[in-house]
Amino acid sequence: MPNLSGKVAIVTGAGQGIGKGIAMTLAKAGADIVVGEMVQDRIAGTVAEVEKLQRKAIGVQFDVRDRGQVDNLVAEAMKKFGRIDILVNNAGNDIVRDLVDMTDEEWDFQINVNLRGPFYMCRSALPHMIKSGNGGAIVNIASIAGYITYPKGAAYAAAKAGVMALTRALASEVAKHKIRVNSVAPGPIDTPLLHEVLGAMPKAQSSALVGGVPLGRLGLPEDIANAVAFLASEEASYITGDTICVGGGMYMH
Ligand SMILES: NC(=O)c1ccc[n+]([C@@H]2O[C@H](COP(=O)([O-])OP(=O)(O)OC[C@H]3O[C@@H](n4cnc5c(N)ncnc54)[C@H](O)[C@@H]3O)[C@@H](O)[C@H]2O)c1
Repeated sequence: MPNLSGKVAIVTGAGQGIGKGIAMTLAKAGADIVVGEMVQDRIAGTVAEVEKLQRKAIGVQFDVRDRGQVDNLVAEAMKKFGRIDILVNNAGNDIVRDLVDMTDEEWDFQINVNLRGPFYMCRSALPHMIKSGNGGAIVNIASIAGYITYPKGAAYAAAKAGVMALTRALASEVAKHKIRVNSVAPGPIDTPLLHEVLGAMPKAQSSALVGGVPLGRLGLPEDIANAVAFLASEEASYITGDTICVGGGMYMH
């Protein structure tokens, strides 16, 4: 387990699924946690579980698509803890739709949650991370959908490939401040979102997706969280601009 004692981490979309798993794992590694989440009812559970681990936590309700709400989340983090060492851009969503049937609003929704959100978060948090002079780590949650393709996934794939490109470009920009930027690209992970997505696919396609994992199982939020904790830690101090696939072998590069 990496040692993140004394660090403060913001995790977006930390109310359930992968984000909650990341918050818990970073807390187990010693970090205090800022739980950023859109659905108010999901915040208290994650905050309570972090506190059970004897770490400090605050919950802030926000929508990652809204610049003002993102700035407020970052301001609350600074007010409570006075520092930001780790930023995990996890909040995301997927609308399963053939491109020809996709409305402008659905396209914008996909791009705004999955790509604009991480941009807003990085732009808001980075000045504090740079000013501290302590360096830091940003971990973006991409998807193997940014590498491999499947029907009804064009906007999501475009957004997640964008996240990986953003990761590389930003990593080169902030390396001089000893801030590292990496991504984790999950394969199918057992969360409410995955079940929503599988339910919206034709049966044959969803069975092929789940059955096509070489390691023979769905991933768990902890599988992603362990990779995030590593990338956020000193053990990864020479890794930046990269993407680690955590997908049971569904994509190898
Ligand atoms: N589950 C998978 O198989 C899988 C695979 C590849 C990538 N991912 C990515 O992992 C991340 C987490 O996915 P998950 O499966 O845990 O999803 P989830 O839907 O189970 O949980 C996501 C959380 O993010 C919150 N959220 C959504 N939109 C938000 C917004 N606009 N602002 C703030 N919070 C918001 C939700 O309320 C929810 O609590 C996403 O970026 C997703 O694209 C998931």
